[in-house]
Amino acid sequence: KEIILRFSGLKMKTDEIRERFLRFFKKKGHKIIPSDSLVPFEDPSVLFTSAGMNQFKEQFMGRNITFRRIATCQKCLRTQDLEKVGKTPGHHTFFEMLGNFSFGDYFKKEAIEWAWEFMTKDLNIKEERLWVSVYIDDAEGYNIWRDIIKVPKNKIIKMGAKENFWPSDAPTEGPNGPCGPCSEIFFDQGPDVGCKKSTCTPACDCGRFVEVWNLVFTQFDRQSDGRLLPLPSKNIDTGMGLERAASVMQGVLTNFQIDIFK
Ligand code: SER
Repeated sequence: KEIILRFSGLKMKTDEIRERFLRFFKKKGHKIIPSDSLVPFEDPSVLFTSAGMNQFKEQFMGRNITFRRIATCQKCLRTQDLEKVGKTPGHHTFFEMLGNFSFGDYFKKEAIEWAWEFMTKDLNIKEERLWVSVYIDDAEGYNIWRDIIKVPKNKIIKMGAKENFWPSDAPTEGPNGPCGPCSEIFFDQGPDVGCKKSTCTPACDCGRFVEVWNLVFTQFDRQSDGRLLPLPSKNIDTGMGLERAASVMQGVLTNFQIDIFK
């Protein structure tokens, strides 16, 4: 019964979500390339590959661009998340991240439109189950969600640099290098999940809302003195947690109940 109540659309295996994502972005002109190694080469800033964008730091700086549109499924490990593993529904030691990237090609409008198209048409998730967040100063992103995608205003949450900047809090905390404001897409598991307060939104950490996809508008190069200089061009870096997407598509409340864990 629980599965039927929470079920959002087509019931879909994790492998199929991965394939659909890559196929979708191939149709949108992206070159599909393999995941980078989980232990990155020649990057002294991280022990492990923690996001799809790690292997593209040079390209975000405007160097070594062979393809302007790329999509991947990246093997990831986040050392900063290890303390949370087993205590939350959606943090892992190892996980996979689906991502589409633009190096000086398309920007916010297409990234938002395609993410919405993939979730609502390809995965067939009902629009009313989705909420979004934008960086507090990102009026352009806000307007795209409100005016083009037609997300109701009460389902567009504005948040600060901790939640809606990549890397988190980069303007004040760093690291240096490519960064930018981001916009996230959340799946609402329903009012009977989490704190059960009528005022609950994705800003609440009760677990009702699953943060599924992060769209980063990578447009700055942070300097050691904290200045955010514009990058040579505007870029896109998105990351969808594959296991979280699978939990949504399989109607379960934690990532540990999805098919690949079983
Ligand atoms: N780099 C961003 C993240 O990991 C989007 O891919 O959330």
